[in-house]
Amino acid sequence: MLVSSLFVTLAAVAGAIASPLDLIPRTSPGTGTHNGFFYSFWTDGRGSVNYNNGNAGSYDVTWSNVGNFVAGKGWKPGASRVISYNGTWNGANVNSYLSIYGWTRNPLIEYYVVESYGSYNPSSGATKRGTIQTDGGTYDIYQTQRVNQPSIEGTSTFYQFWSVRQQKRVGGTVTIQNHFDAWTNAGLRLGSHDYQIVATEGYQSSGSARIEVFQS
Ligand SMILES: *[C@@H]1O[C@H](CO)[C@@H](O)[C@H](O)[C@H]1NC(C)=O
Repeated sequence: MLVSSLFVTLAAVAGAIASPLDLIPRTSPGTGTHNGFFYSFWTDGRGSVNYNNGNAGSYDVTWSNVGNFVAGKGWKPGASRVISYNGTWNGANVNSYLSIYGWTRNPLIEYYVVESYGSYNPSSGATKRGTIQTDGGTYDIYQTQRVNQPSIEGTSTFYQFWSVRQQKRVGGTVTIQNHFDAWTNAGLRLGSHDYQIVATEGYQSSGSARIEVFQS
């Protein structure tokens, strides 16, 4: 933590000297509220990630040679919202996901409604638990387990629930309750909602995205 904080600080200072682009305020890794939206920006510290909160529910992120990062804007706590988003996502040819992404506690669950993925299908190797038709598309449902991995409760072992849209898209409306219901029907039980964001994730890749989130 100390090493990566120091790195971010030095990088910010170096950037401020080097480029007028750095007059744009950068957001440090962490969570908070911005213009009435909750945001979360997590990185494992490898490579570089430049995440910026923008107007209302918008954000932009550029990443380069990362290990793994997840960032975006939304709400805390998560709820039965009709979530809309639009923008651009330059992750289609690299390992990246664009998802409605959230966590629950008791049980600790990390969930994804994947709207688009790039070179790696996150359901690879996972067992399919059903399908759901909603919001103009078909989503495949999967459950996976993470063992001793980062979580909102520190390093932990927990399940991930997935809905992966067959017809990839960047922009649209997600009736998240339909996914919650489909997961429950498949025996996948969520806990109490923590945060819920429209997230850009990158894994061992470089890319960029500019996304705006709003509630319908
Ligand atoms: C989302 O759509 C609105 C309305 O068309 C537009 O003003 C805004 O720039 C878009 N946001 C992004 C991030 O492209």
